[in-house]
Amino acid sequence: MTSQAVDAPILVIGRSGQLAQALLETDAKLVACGRDQFDLAQDDPSALLDAHKPHAVINAAAYTDVNGAEADPDAAQALNCSGPSRLAAACKARDIHFLHVSTDYVFDGAPGGAPYKETARTHPLNVYARTKRNGEDAVMTANEDAMILRAAWIFDGRGGSFLNAILNRLDNGLPLKVVNDQISTPTWAPDLARALVGLAQRETLPSGVFHFSGGPAASWYDFARAAIRLAQAHLPVEPVIEPVDSSAFPQPAQRPLDTRMDAQALLATTGIGPGDWRAGLPEVIARRYEHPKG
Ligand SMILES: NC(=O)c1ccc[n+]([C@@H]2O[C@H](COP(=O)([O-])OP(=O)(O)OC[C@H]3O[C@@H](n4cnc5c(N)ncnc54)[C@H](OP(=O)(O)O)[C@@H]3O)[C@@H](O)[C@H]2O)c1
Repeated sequence: MTSQAVDAPILVIGRSGQLAQALLETDAKLVACGRDQFDLAQDDPSALLDAHKPHAVINAAAYTDVNGAEADPDAAQALNCSGPSRLAAACKARDIHFLHVSTDYVFDGAPGGAPYKETARTHPLNVYARTKRNGEDAVMTANEDAMILRAAWIFDGRGGSFLNAILNRLDNGLPLKVVNDQISTPTWAPDLARALVGLAQRETLPSGVFHFSGGPAASWYDFARAAIRLAQAHLPVEPVIEPVDSSAFPQPAQRPLDTRMDAQALLATTGIGPGDWRAGLPEVIARRYEHPKG
């Protein structure tokens, strides 16, 4: 699909989230809007789009509280499905590229399933994942020109992420138990942001669902150990980390075990390859310990 003039801005839905912040740190011409300006769960996007006349819209907003969604499925559905569908339709009506982000959690991660291609059967195990999967269908139904990137385990060291949770414990000299049976491809938010911006700036965009993977597969335990190696010099005591099964941490929402994704289709179609979380992690650790305000 061709779109509005490429020198028009890219509109980002979401402002304070991990991905929204990483998008804002690219050098692209972006306008980001937080929920105080546009509530994706309920607002009509027409006025927003007509005011900014963007070349492309990147939806970085979502209901991402995986456990919270179990108790509030309507809120998750409104934000992960109905809102993106309205936005997709409004973009279609104005010839604006629409880029949306989905998740590896659309897969059940059962043995033998991974690495998942885009054609693989989806089977969400929790409410968050179901609403994200519903959102994929609703977006593509509302706008067959839309492009959706499925990502996994996005990290950048901001907010209440897994990475911050473990580093906070380590900073306080506390031992860690980390699950070793959940595996995926961690995605450094700036890698995904650069991919989305690069796509959004194009005159034409492939449509449909594509996998954007963050490079080599890891368990949460592998990921935590890599973070510890990098952070070790800054820690108050020798870190203690123990691998455990998911059953050690019962949670309201069931997590899939192995959601490694095959990102070859995106590479073949757009030239955009997977990132490598091992390149991003040192930057996140340096930002936390060496340039905490940077
Ligand atoms: N985090 C992961 O590990 C992961 C993995 C796979 C896929 N994803 C997907 O990647 C995308 C980005 O995730 P993230 O990690 O950046 O999420 P995040 O850090 O939790 O940020 C969520 C964003 O959603 C916005 N938002 C929440 N409610 C809103 C509302 N009612 N109206 C408008 N905006 C609202 C927030 O807006 P404000 O700026 O106003 O706070 C924030 O910018 C999502 O689609 C998510 O499903 C995430």
